[in-house]
Amino acid sequence: MEILHVSAECYPVAKAGGLGDVVGALPKYLNQLGHIAKVVMPMYRTKYLYNHEWEVVHKGRTNLGSWWFEFTVIKEAKNENGFDLYLIDINGLLDREKVYGYDDDSERFTAFQIAVLDWVSAWEHRPDVIHVHDHHTGLIPFMLKHCFKYRNIKSIPTVLTIHNAQYQGWMDWADSKMIPAWDTWSWGMLDWANKINPLASAIKCADKVTTVSPSYLDELKYMSNGLEDLFEYEKGKCVGIINGIDADVWDPATDTYLQNHYSIKDAEAGKLKSKLDLCETFNLDPEKPLIVFIGRLVGEKGADLLPQVIGDSYYYVGRRMNFLVLGSGFPEVEAELSAMKALSQRDYNAYIGYNETLSHLMYAGADFLLMPSRVEPCGLNQMYSMRYGTVPMVRRIGGLKDTVIDYGEPDGYGICYNYTAVGDITHAVWRAVELYHDKKNLSAIRKRMMALDFSWEASVKKYIDVYNSIV
Ligand code: ADP
Ligand code: GLC
Repeated sequence: MEILHVSAECYPVAKAGGLGDVVGALPKYLNQLGHIAKVVMPMYRTKYLYNHEWEVVHKGRTNLGSWWFEFTVIKEAKNENGFDLYLIDINGLLDREKVYGYDDDSERFTAFQIAVLDWVSAWEHRPDVIHVHDHHTGLIPFMLKHCFKYRNIKSIPTVLTIHNAQYQGWMDWADSKMIPAWDTWSWGMLDWANKINPLASAIKCADKVTTVSPSYLDELKYMSNGLEDLFEYEKGKCVGIINGIDADVWDPATDTYLQNHYSIKDAEAGKLKSKLDLCETFNLDPEKPLIVFIGRLVGEKGADLLPQVIGDSYYYVGRRMNFLVLGSGFPEVEAELSAMKALSQRDYNAYIGYNETLSHLMYAGADFLLMPSRVEPCGLNQMYSMRYGTVPMVRRIGGLKDTVIDYGEPDGYGICYNYTAVGDITHAVWRAVELYHDKKNLSAIRKRMMALDFSWEASVKKYIDVYNSIV
């Protein structure tokens, strides 16, 4: 089968979060099973672009409403990622440094999707499936089925994967002029609550919808930022498939970001070396357990509670642990976490920003990884941390619920709690400190976690079943 993935992110080209990791890995594993999976994404101005060789495969001219523009499709020349990678260059619109966060994101991603379909409609053959990811590519199933100019490719089946339903790409109806002419009777396939809603539209128009964990799919029926009824109505075509992790990138024995490599056999010593390095860099006390947070500093991740959780932990549990935070997001949370550095007694530090290298060092050197998410469609951090022998402290929600078993249960290995509430999280911190001093138990738990298989092999087969059901 030939599957074309269309996405706003793909590691290592451009990544803002887990979407990039997934789109950078799933196609590679599909190819390993004999399929042809390709990725097309916008051409941002990233380091990757300048460090690689590209060949031009297509040039086109098209329009976004009354604005006509030229676009170029380039292909990475050496197939370095294990799949064909295509970038779409739209001068002035896509070639920027960040992936998201511009006022004209709706125009940017609508133009990108139009360019993708114009390009595919010019192919001499048809891909078997077009697989879109999240709302940035959510207009494609609609445009394919209802825009007159894509009649020649309208029979290509589509799959939507929802990585995060909190963001839906809402557009005013006035923006409908950006979408190439369509049969107006089908306006309802774009609409949700009097807005153009690209995510809702993709749920309605795609042949199959997947979410990145089974529990998240259940939760969306009662908590999906306004789409609850739609999920209930469309549940027949939805399936939850847990993400895997790219075992080539995320392996403490070979990780190119690490200096101290280790595996399950020498995990204690290997982790200790990484911890000592981290503690030295961030002025922390290596005798105490190291609890880290890595992620977007937003409400979904429970990041707004971190300052209070850290303060309460010092007060109620005692200054018996270190906290190290890596992330960026809400300016107020960033400011509060930065200000707290002044109060550190060699037991707190924060790096505000995005730093891929540091994230790998933290997965390796930490004892515990805190994830108090309010919403977590899958979550990759907890799987990375387990692969690196770091105990996850997770709220029982979404993919966290599907991947972590509390160490108090038979064969368990993590620390779980029910609510994103300061009391619950602080209690989890107390449990982490207690576990840290129970060295024998901690070492057994580390080994158990590191032996778990979170690779893509199992999940990729479920995606193939989905494709087979519609091709
Ligand atoms: P989400 O996609 O919702 O942000 P995931 O758990 O799926 O959450 O994936 C987050 C990914 O982004 C992980 O690879 C994590 O290591 C990475 N990440 C998040 N914030 C940062 C940061 N500030 N610096 C480096 N990596 C980060
Ligand atoms: C989203 C979700 C996260 C998931 C990732 C990859 O960003 O928030 O939970 O792991 O996508 O699917």
